[in-house]
Amino acid sequence: MDSVLRQSKAMCPFMRKATAAGLRAMTTAATATATATQVRPAIAPSPCGGAISKLQVLARRCPVMGKAMAVQSARLGSNHHQHAGFHGAATSTFAGHRERSGKARLHTSRSKDARAVEDALLDKVQLPPRLPLKQQQAATSAATATATGGAGVAPGVAPSPRPSTRGSKFDYEGFYEAELDKKHKDKSYRYFNNINRLAREFPRAHMANREDRVDVWCANDYLGMGRNPQVLRAMHDTLDEYGAGAGGTRNISGHNRHAVELEHTIARLHAKEAGLVFSSCYVANDATLATLGSKMPDCVILSDSLNHASMIQGIRHSGARKIIFKHNDVHDLEQKLASLPLHAPKIIAFESVYSMCGSIGPIAEICDLAEKYGALTFLDEVHAVGMYGPHGAGVAEHLDFEAHVRGAPHDTIMDRIDIITATLGKAYGCVGGYIAGTAKLIDTVRSLAPGFIFTTTLPPAVMAGARTAIEYQMDYGGDRRLQQLHTRAVKEALGERDIPVIPNPSHIIPVLVGNAELAKKASDKLLKDHDIYVQSINYPTVPVGQERLRITPTPGHTKPYRDHLVAAIESIWKELGIKRTSEWAAEGGFIGVGEANAVAEAPLWTNEQLGVAEATRAILAASPGGSSRGLTERLLELELEGSSASAPAAAAAAAAGAA
Ligand SMILES: Cc1ncc(COP(=O)(O)O)c(C=O)c1O
Repeated sequence: MDSVLRQSKAMCPFMRKATAAGLRAMTTAATATATATQVRPAIAPSPCGGAISKLQVLARRCPVMGKAMAVQSARLGSNHHQHAGFHGAATSTFAGHRERSGKARLHTSRSKDARAVEDALLDKVQLPPRLPLKQQQAATSAATATATGGAGVAPGVAPSPRPSTRGSKFDYEGFYEAELDKKHKDKSYRYFNNINRLAREFPRAHMANREDRVDVWCANDYLGMGRNPQVLRAMHDTLDEYGAGAGGTRNISGHNRHAVELEHTIARLHAKEAGLVFSSCYVANDATLATLGSKMPDCVILSDSLNHASMIQGIRHSGARKIIFKHNDVHDLEQKLASLPLHAPKIIAFESVYSMCGSIGPIAEICDLAEKYGALTFLDEVHAVGMYGPHGAGVAEHLDFEAHVRGAPHDTIMDRIDIITATLGKAYGCVGGYIAGTAKLIDTVRSLAPGFIFTTTLPPAVMAGARTAIEYQMDYGGDRRLQQLHTRAVKEALGERDIPVIPNPSHIIPVLVGNAELAKKASDKLLKDHDIYVQSINYPTVPVGQERLRITPTPGHTKPYRDHLVAAIESIWKELGIKRTSEWAAEGGFIGVGEANAVAEAPLWTNEQLGVAEATRAILAASPGGSSRGLTERLLELELEGSSASAPAAAAAAAAGAA
């Protein structure tokens, strides 16, 4: 330090004149003044809108430092109106915090859809802006007066549980009550149902009472792998041999053959150099984005407006600048990418299947843009692994179906994705999450991400089960194929009854209700009156007014289950007077339902890929007027009869029988 000071003094006319004690006094001046302001608000606001030290004021006059500070100031300040200026070492920690949230406030173009989720889950937990103490006290007593004024808590106004006087303690229980009250008032309070899915009776479960059976229609164990005999055997064997838990973090006795083998399988599935397992994909997304976004200098993360909370949280934790692009809108994304310097590191974070509406990301187009503008692609395949592609690697694999069938993964869309993230807890039926990418990327995240480093490894039995599930689905496509056919059958049956399904090309069946109370009532009635469990999806998971029932068929939802579901929904729609597709249409349509100009998106799984092209043609040719009514049920009947879909004669005969 002394030698730096000596050198600086030799070079700089300012430093030459200054004494060491004087410099020290100047660097601490702002801190002292800031503290002083809490009592005496006499500090003059700096031209940058914050308190700066005397040393900074003087440094601005320096021909060298002044320029450097101006550049820094422009860089930091160009994106936020209020805090433009240099936040030097002497500004408070909180100024740094505001600086970051200033960056996050850039997203003026984000859609309402995104805001519904993000604001509710994340923004509201932010600290309030720090005010000088006097203002704080004034605000606190005003809020306390409102909260205790006998009128209850005004809707939309956060009651302050803080005591009005300095002497009393924080009212923790009061705080919890106020927060819960807000959730009840805006109808976003979550009620959990006690659903015990039965491995031997899939897709059935028992309720709290073991005798009460229900059909589960909303689990994300999309393929029933949670009860797959091979998965269970692998888990039982591993449990018996290696015990319940991993015993520690990966660094401390939690690195074992199960982790190594699972990561090897993950890398093979996605044709990447390496994989890394986390305790969940929430953690994987959070840890990876937070690590990359915070470590790469001046990183910008471009995030789809409907991205999952785990990515939103990861971006927030990174402190990187975030830009939200409109859902699946590559033009909007391109405009935003074009506004950034080519050399700046960028990550485009998006999903393949958006689970609440079933839409599918434009992966190939996003890869093109990423290449053009020098960005990394971060693709969340949580709702797609196991479900799409000839080996179940997800939508990216599905888009080059034939190449992957041939075992030629190079130069494919999946090859162009830099970071694939996914879960072991949905179609693979276990728990855990992972990322896959280059060996260097994986080693970087492994080495730097606290969310990976400082947590206990998944239990060996879980990792063995997950690896078995992935490998099973890599070799066998029957489950995902049947799942797709069951999805088509339910979508068709609901469509034929004027029940409003939000159109999409995926395996998700979002049935639009459009009202939080009605959605909950419909869900409750399905359970109580029909022994069917479909959770309602309300704000903040979806925006207010877009509440829905989200139905997820599995290969286990055979015809009796489907008929029962469709009849129950029909009766509830009638009983509760919930709007039908034709009624939405009469109002001009809404989010794809009843919209006159909506172009129907074909299912991602084509008839050819499902092996039902010829049978479909035969059925349609034989049906009166070429009607497609009941088409998929007919195809499934053929399946049951054991007639291969590629046996056109049998299909035609069956179709003729149906006509
Ligand atoms: C898109 C998306 N990403 C990540 C996650 C988190 O996955 P996990 O359940 O493994 O934490 C979810 C969970 O629902 C999700 O929907």
